Amino acid sequence: MEKIIEENKQGQSLVLEQKTGNTKKLFIESYGCAMNFADSEVVASILANEGYNTTQLLEEADLVLVNTCSIRDKAEQTVRKRLEKYNAVKRINPGMKVGVLGCMAERLKSQFLEEEKIVDMVIGPDAYKDLPNLLKEVEEGRDAINVILSKDETYGDISPVRLNSNGVTAFVSITRGCDNMCTFCVVPFTRGRERSREPQSIMEEIADLYSKGFKEVTLLGQNVDSYLWYGGGLKKDYVKASEMQKATATDFAQLLGMVAEAYPKMRFRFSTSNPQDMHESVLHVIAKYHNVCNYIHLPVQSGSTRILKEMNRQHTREEYMALIDKVKAIIPDCAISQDMISGFPTETEEDHKDTLTLMEYVKYDFGYMFAYSERPGTLAARKMEDDVPEEVKKRRLQEVVDLQQEISMERTARFVGQVVEVLIEKPSKKSDAHWSGRNSQNTTVVFPKGDYKPGDFVNVLVSDCTSATLIGEAVGYSAMQ
Ligand code: SAH
Ligand code: F3S
Repeated sequence: MEKIIEENKQGQSLVLEQKTGNTKKLFIESYGCAMNFADSEVVASILANEGYNTTQLLEEADLVLVNTCSIRDKAEQTVRKRLEKYNAVKRINPGMKVGVLGCMAERLKSQFLEEEKIVDMVIGPDAYKDLPNLLKEVEEGRDAINVILSKDETYGDISPVRLNSNGVTAFVSITRGCDNMCTFCVVPFTRGRERSREPQSIMEEIADLYSKGFKEVTLLGQNVDSYLWYGGGLKKDYVKASEMQKATATDFAQLLGMVAEAYPKMRFRFSTSNPQDMHESVLHVIAKYHNVCNYIHLPVQSGSTRILKEMNRQHTREEYMALIDKVKAIIPDCAISQDMISGFPTETEEDHKDTLTLMEYVKYDFGYMFAYSERPGTLAARKMEDDVPEEVKKRRLQEVVDLQQEISMERTARFVGQVVEVLIEKPSKKSDAHWSGRNSQNTTVVFPKGDYKPGDFVNVLVSDCTSATLIGEAVGYSAMQ
């Protein structure tokens, strides 16, 4: 899932371990990025203490929560459709309460209660600890809302329960919010200012996962490279920190080194990186530790310096290329993936070509590509006209997608004939006789099950591939086992 909006996970409802004595039923489903999925686990943990066990049956729920995404208009439309569905169920089950969580709650605030009559509760991403109070309000027949964004909330003290998972891989949040203010992006408005979580609580969460047999952790944040712990508080207030706080601060490279060192039998990934904040020190940590995966998701959005400037991305095409050169020099076999936006306001054919040539230069292993969607309240929406016609956006996006497909094929094929280290996650979607896992570079690998089991680290000799999947045969356990 990385940060990433994984299409097959959208709308997945979450089922947790049933707490005995709990009588009320919670149906919770999530849309959007990995952070939302991780947050829903925090929410379900909070509600487990309020008498709620989770259910996958919407019809029997006492409380329905939907964790929402605002990143593109389409994401919001999907949620509105789900609200219609809840409304239909509410007619059969009038006692059922409905709450909206996450970015759309934060963006629309009380408008939700006014427009969507079926919504009883609106809760922003920093207000989940207030859920018990809000539920009381609702039980007493009042609408409830808390969309206050926080300076220090990281939910570090709540241990999320994860039973809907494969028991092998997990996400651990390390930062919340974003200070970057890319002009197209709604996240700084919906998730607030950037703050980092205390290393101690991150280590404790990983220790807990390790003791439960998990083998891979993805450190999660809107901009993980910007991680900075100096005793608490906003990233932007670091300048006001004392000399002592500065001397004992922990940055992302240090955090990554710390977790890799402490758990040599676990693998670590992280997402998402931002080119402007990615320091060489992180690259050296990846190169140094075998258990830090050779994979960086490094969104660029456009290959045109002019568009990057309009997007407020803080780097040029050339600076990005120089960073890529550094990645390749320090971590020779590193996989790199992108996020790309086609049709940002004022984008010309020339700018679009710059994107295509940048993709050729980097040779991304894969990517997440989108047509620009104007988001109300963002700087781009306020200052720029959404002037690239829809069909031009679509055509450019298709060209970007087609080129990525070609490059992905080439990148994936380089593994054919090689032995790769795979962490087994689950049975393959296409065949129950095969395991599915990923190599260090984040490419999916499938192979006959043999005597291996999920959670095993194995060496797989790759014999064939598609553009996104390697096919092979296990030749034994790897050194990580
Ligand atoms: N730093 C964040 C980015 C979140 S948004 C993270 O990765 O955790 C994920 C991606 O959605 C962005 O990289 C961008 O490519 C895309 N995106 C964001 N706003 C968009 C918009 N208004 N229209 C189209 N795509 C958008
Ligand atoms: Fe959005 Fe840019 Fe932050 S894409 S999440 S404002 S890094």
